[in-house]
Amino acid sequence: MTTESVLAPSSTWWRQATVYQIYPRSFADANADGIGDLRGITSRVPYLRHLGVDAVWLSPFYPSALADGGYDVADYRNVDPRIGTLAEFDEMITALHGAGIRVIVDIVPNHSSDQHPWFQEALAAGRGSAARERYIFRDGRGEHGELPPADWTSVFGGPAWERVEDGQWYLHSFAPEQPDFNWDSREVRDDFLRTLRFWSDRGVDGFRIDVAHMLVKDLPDPLPTQAELEAMDAASGTHPLYDRDEVHDVYAEWRTVFDSYDPPRTAVAEAWVATPERRARYAAPTSLGQAFNFDLLTADFDAAQFRAVVTDNLAQSAVSGSSSTWVLSNHDSVRHATRYGLPPLHGRTEVKQGTEWILAGAPADAVDLDLGLRRARAATLFLLALPGSAYLYQGEELGLFEVGDLPAEARQDPAYLRSVGQPEWSFDGLGRDGCRVPLPWTRTGSSFGFGDDGAHLPQPAWFADLSVEAEEDDPASTLTLYREALRLRRELQTAEELAWDDAPASVLSFTRPGGWRTVTNFGDAPVPLPAGEVLLASGPLPDGELPGATTVWVRAR
Ligand code: NOJ
Ligand code: CA
Repeated sequence: MTTESVLAPSSTWWRQATVYQIYPRSFADANADGIGDLRGITSRVPYLRHLGVDAVWLSPFYPSALADGGYDVADYRNVDPRIGTLAEFDEMITALHGAGIRVIVDIVPNHSSDQHPWFQEALAAGRGSAARERYIFRDGRGEHGELPPADWTSVFGGPAWERVEDGQWYLHSFAPEQPDFNWDSREVRDDFLRTLRFWSDRGVDGFRIDVAHMLVKDLPDPLPTQAELEAMDAASGTHPLYDRDEVHDVYAEWRTVFDSYDPPRTAVAEAWVATPERRARYAAPTSLGQAFNFDLLTADFDAAQFRAVVTDNLAQSAVSGSSSTWVLSNHDSVRHATRYGLPPLHGRTEVKQGTEWILAGAPADAVDLDLGLRRARAATLFLLALPGSAYLYQGEELGLFEVGDLPAEARQDPAYLRSVGQPEWSFDGLGRDGCRVPLPWTRTGSSFGFGDDGAHLPQPAWFADLSVEAEEDDPASTLTLYREALRLRRELQTAEELAWDDAPASVLSFTRPGGWRTVTNFGDAPVPLPAGEVLLASGPLPDGELPGATTVWVRAR
């Protein structure tokens, strides 16, 4: 496969890249069926180029029964016919490379779809068969095996074991339509090596690895209870289900595939592990090479929390030799413009509670959207000045808010659907559909320019004012801010270092080599502007001061 490219070969392009996450079903719909598609992405390459991103990461676009938004993959080496064809994938990658934009695709190795031919074969082949060895089947407990092998709960709530017709049970860490693979199987390992080569051969530059910490398991006999699992040390490397040390043997094999290409293919791990130290193992050059750090995403808009997150993660990247990653929003979390409008919360659990509370019908005036957006813009400028890679989520460049009031019948997220009537199963309040609503491109028209005939999730009327068309030529818009910031970031980007400057308690100030200084006022009261030429600010700077919830970039003198 040849792709015309303006990209200079580089083995380090990812270290400080700006990566834009596309959720393909919700980005742009070229054939008017309400579902975003690859031709839609290709048609928006000029937009992505103008935005100034270095790479896009595509969430799954593979054939899928959509039990989990495509994270239930039925065929790892194909395109969902509703999203496009392999030929259209090639056209898309050629267009992106031609615009100087690299391409990262999502690999989902912990589980397949229950529609995957291997799982169908396992069901048909019956107990004790080689086909069942590719997944995790066990007999049940109880006199007739009528009880699940263990009382484990899935990430999306409810039991983690599902019974099949002949009475055996299989493990699904997520939805029942997502059976977990058995990574002790050589066939499973070889098949993923084949998948990595397949996409690399098509010109893909890198991979995002879904729940990279969960693949390898060691299930003792008898199985521990859920309570026992929870009491085990998740940072030991020997937990039966999570973050086992041997998972890196899998990635060492993957590394040989990545390194057989020129330039080497890259990977970033989604690894929810117990400590930054454990995360650094995934970021090692012998493993996946980079790992997501969600610590900013789970922090409050708070100077001390932000500083601790940055300091800890830069220290970890010094250990791993990788660069840091920074994330404020993605397809699994409440958009940060809404999150920062919630009352102060600390840590993931409380963020979830806040989300549930707000989305479950708290009075609308309980979310301060103006403040949320001001803080979101300030946090984004803070993030974009940090050493390392910035991962942005489609729509955040428009300042989109979470769509909190989707009707129940429109919701698609299994985390929500499995929790209806079972609040104790709830994974994240009303689930993740509110950040996956198709993008508004125009002020008017069917689905605000997303496509010509509706959108698979309903868009609210307020999308008009946050559409690309509405923001395009507005110097004060969030889109203009992102474009300007990404342009300057390319120009100012320098060695992966920063030095903290003295600042009052509610202010963070740091300087990158070359005099690129970033000052964020996390408080309410204005503070004096730093000396130097103002390059960009996340909001107005009245009276020569830096107001609360505002970031400024200056060229320090
Ligand atoms: C993490 C993905 O980001 C999420 O969207 C998905 O539901 C789970 N992994 C399961 O694949
Ligand atoms: Ca479509």
